[in-house]
Amino acid sequence: MADDFNDQALMDKIVSLCKRRGFVFPSSEIYGGFNGFWDYGPYGARMKRAIEALWWHEMVETRDNVEGLDSTIIANPTIWKASGHLDQFSDLMTDCRQCKSRYRVDQMEDPTTCPNCGSKDLTEPREFNLMMKTFVGPVFDEDHVAYLRAETCQPIFVDFHSVRVATRQKLPFGVAQIGKAFRNEINPRNFTFRSREFTQMEMEFFCDGEKGMEWFEYWKAERIRYYREKLGFDDSNMRIYVHEKLAHYAKAAIDIEVKFPFGWGELEGVHHRGTWDLSRHSEFSGQDLQYFDHDNGRKFMPTVIETSVGLDRTMLAILAKSYDEDSAATKKEGMDEDVRVVLHLPPMVAPIQVAVLPQSKKLNENAYALYKDVDRFFRSEYDDTGSIGKRYRRQDEIGTPFCVTFDFDSLNDNAVTVRNRDTMLQERVGVTQLRSYLEEKIGM
Ligand code: GAP
Repeated sequence: MADDFNDQALMDKIVSLCKRRGFVFPSSEIYGGFNGFWDYGPYGARMKRAIEALWWHEMVETRDNVEGLDSTIIANPTIWKASGHLDQFSDLMTDCRQCKSRYRVDQMEDPTTCPNCGSKDLTEPREFNLMMKTFVGPVFDEDHVAYLRAETCQPIFVDFHSVRVATRQKLPFGVAQIGKAFRNEINPRNFTFRSREFTQMEMEFFCDGEKGMEWFEYWKAERIRYYREKLGFDDSNMRIYVHEKLAHYAKAAIDIEVKFPFGWGELEGVHHRGTWDLSRHSEFSGQDLQYFDHDNGRKFMPTVIETSVGLDRTMLAILAKSYDEDSAATKKEGMDEDVRVVLHLPPMVAPIQVAVLPQSKKLNENAYALYKDVDRFFRSEYDDTGSIGKRYRRQDEIGTPFCVTFDFDSLNDNAVTVRNRDTMLQERVGVTQLRSYLEEKIGM
């Protein structure tokens, strides 16, 4: 990751907004927190589910050749032997003997000096395994050790044969999964960017090795298109990093990097993993995971193309690119504050898509009935406290794209005022057209 800029002030504002408005809280905060763990508050949980739903729709629901899976977090530990995680999934670490800080050697600018206290008294670098351990069964000894999964893709490889038989899929086809992954990261940092518990959204596409590079190019293009069309990333905040050094089994790999407040960072990897994963699981399980192609009588080990993205990082990247302080806009709506804090979130992933606001509490009965109706189709919220201007600002700050005001005229003309978060323009829309109007604007 090239750290060519670092906007700490922006990061602080995002962290503060996330806490204040209920997107993300430090885990176990009343006990002093727990480094590398984060809780998603009410708006954060909604946004997280919306991102998951968008990804799932894009990768599974709209494709006949991708199936879904929901596997366990803890599984037979031999999986992690086969995947190489138990032997290789480690970082080189060094400790400062003076201040007791611990660092990943590859992240130190000068691996001979402690970045915290400047001491040169560092331990020899040694390996530190990132797998989280637990015990399964009544005896807490080495024979009962199990691991929390470090990535969601391994169970996909392990269940490959069962999924194929159950669905009667022929190659090429993919299997996708969303779920928690756990890594004992040495230096969790940059808010949710590097956490110890996080959510991954991964898809493994199984194909004939002869077509491997074609499918790699296909998925690379598809994923870039998704970020552009569905989440509004563009050349100003997204770039591709092509790996030159590849794992011995890999044929090609790219990272989709986006701008975070602290610099460019990896959001997603698209990797051509060859036949490595299924070969290893065949070897360690003793099960033949090869594919027999009835059309041409060939039997072969499928090649895997992987797309792998972190959900927490996706949300952080969206929040970072959406955060805005708009000083020109403040007077427009009769507000006397210095800046309007607004999140220009893509409407499909905004935690609240429509806020329904009665002009006066006297209109509560009708306005609330409208809200209940709107809430059946959109993530919605009802707010009847404070001036309309203040209520707009509250919604701007959590990224609500549309505010619908029910006023006294609405009683007579059966129409409402829809205010657009980004343009701040208002339009009068008939209540009977409201659903289709909003669906079109949100892009559903
Ligand atoms: N199966 C391949 C794999 O797991 P990875 O690059 O280790 O590859 C994939 O992880 C994605 O998961 C990353 O691009 C990132 O978005 C997310 N990710 C990885 N480690 C993370 C962490 N400690 N905290 C948050 N997200 C993480």
